[in-house]
Amino acid sequence: MKRLGLEYVDLYLIHQPLGDYYGAWRVMQEVYREGGARAIGVSNFFPDRLVDLIAHNEITPAVNQIETHPYNQRRTDQELMREHRVQHESWGPFAEGKNNIFSDPTLSMIGAAHGKSVAQVILRWLTQRGVVAIPKSVRRERMEENFAVFDFELTPANMEAIVSLDSDSSSFFDHRDPAAVKRLSEAQRPT
Ligand SMILES: NC(=O)c1ccc[n+]([C@@H]2O[C@H](COP(=O)([O-])OP(=O)(O)OC[C@H]3O[C@@H](n4cnc5c(N)ncnc54)[C@H](OP(=O)(O)O)[C@@H]3O)[C@@H](O)[C@H]2O)c1
Repeated sequence: MKRLGLEYVDLYLIHQPLGDYYGAWRVMQEVYREGGARAIGVSNFFPDRLVDLIAHNEITPAVNQIETHPYNQRRTDQELMREHRVQHESWGPFAEGKNNIFSDPTLSMIGAAHGKSVAQVILRWLTQRGVVAIPKSVRRERMEENFAVFDFELTPANMEAIVSLDSDSSSFFDHRDPAAVKRLSEAQRPT
């Protein structure tokens, strides 16, 4: 906090369910109670890990930030998060450009009908699903484009067409894959 020059942060997350994340969560609950964070949450928690963390702690995470985009829509995860009142937040809303998402025929056709870009269609689709999105761009004009999603609405037919794009699998890697767990654990081990 000293290094950030802040007295509190708005949201403080556990990056992934690896290592002693229960110990981390207990300390984060204290940070929250002392006012060091306005909200605390998690990231990359699959339903089983999320339910377990909720069951064995006092504070329910405010947010679970998980990979969510048209090719990996996380509908089952979202239902469970709704049930537990955990806000679904999307990382990689554009799948980081993978699978030529910016020229996807279905998303392009929907965008053309609304006079909007594929990026805007995706962000609007997430918003209408009640998913918070944190798109990343280093370009000012794209940041402005990514904010301009509150002046149009996707139709039920548009929403239905996007459902059909779901592959229900990661465009990156699965946090439940033992090889990924080993690789990520080695990367986060202090040196
Ligand atoms: N919790 C986690 O494990 C986790 C994992 C990954 C990422 N994240 C976070 O998620 C956030 C989202 O970032 P992300 O990198 O994953 O992916 P993303 O937002 O899906 O995609 C970023 C890519 O899209 C391009 N882009 C952005 N706006 C665009 C637009 N309007 N039109 C065309 N291209 C556009 C960017 O290029 P330019 O920059 O050149 O515009 C960049 O190449 C970041 O804050 C990141 O830190 C979290």
